[in-house]
Amino acid sequence: MAKKIAKKIAKTKTSKLRVTEMHHPVLQHKLSLLRDKNISSMVFRQVVEEMSQLLAYEATRDLKTQPSDVVTPLEKTKSPKIAEPLLIVAVLRAGLGMLNGMMKILPFATIGHIGIYRDRFVNATVEYYLRLPKDVKNQRILLLDPMLASGDTACAAIERLKEYGVGKIRLITLLAAPQGVAKINKLFPDVEIYTVNLERELNKKGYILPGMGDAGDRLFDTIRHS
Ligand code: URA
Repeated sequence: MAKKIAKKIAKTKTSKLRVTEMHHPVLQHKLSLLRDKNISSMVFRQVVEEMSQLLAYEATRDLKTQPSDVVTPLEKTKSPKIAEPLLIVAVLRAGLGMLNGMMKILPFATIGHIGIYRDRFVNATVEYYLRLPKDVKNQRILLLDPMLASGDTACAAIERLKEYGVGKIRLITLLAAPQGVAKINKLFPDVEIYTVNLERELNKKGYILPGMGDAGDRLFDTIRHS
């Protein structure tokens, strides 16, 4: 069964993938900065945070609002305010890089964390941490993971969140590989994927090409010291 699904996913044409690419020139410019292997971790972190602010804005266009009473210096008026709870969940560790930018734009959101990695020895995803606010039933989720590669960890995170009866999940990424998008489209057709760029492919080691390398290492400067 799993092999059948994997074959179908591999055959999915790029034009059939359901993914929202955000081709705003400012986002594209900042993405080019991230791709450059010579920028420092400090600059990388800063640019990821800036991009996350822009993504927060784009990915919440359809949040519900309702009129609220406001008194301006001149008169009373009705003015819209956000009227639905929003939960942001960061996938550790690279999702942390996007969290600050998101929280700056969406300070009313609550925050969850999920730690999942793909263990190459047992060839499975392993969850090592999960912390969500108390009542998340039916809540709309922005799930943060800058790199959607094979889709294994994203699928494991989505599956876990769904166990809590959450509402609509929107996966927010900086880069996405066709394989990862196809996998989520197939297994979780209700999950929307937002990315800055749909990339060409994954290499044999699971890195996105052309990509930006390991986002976690570049954010936290762990390449030189590990
Ligand atoms: N995760 C990353 O950080 N980079 C990739 O290219 C793929 C997965």
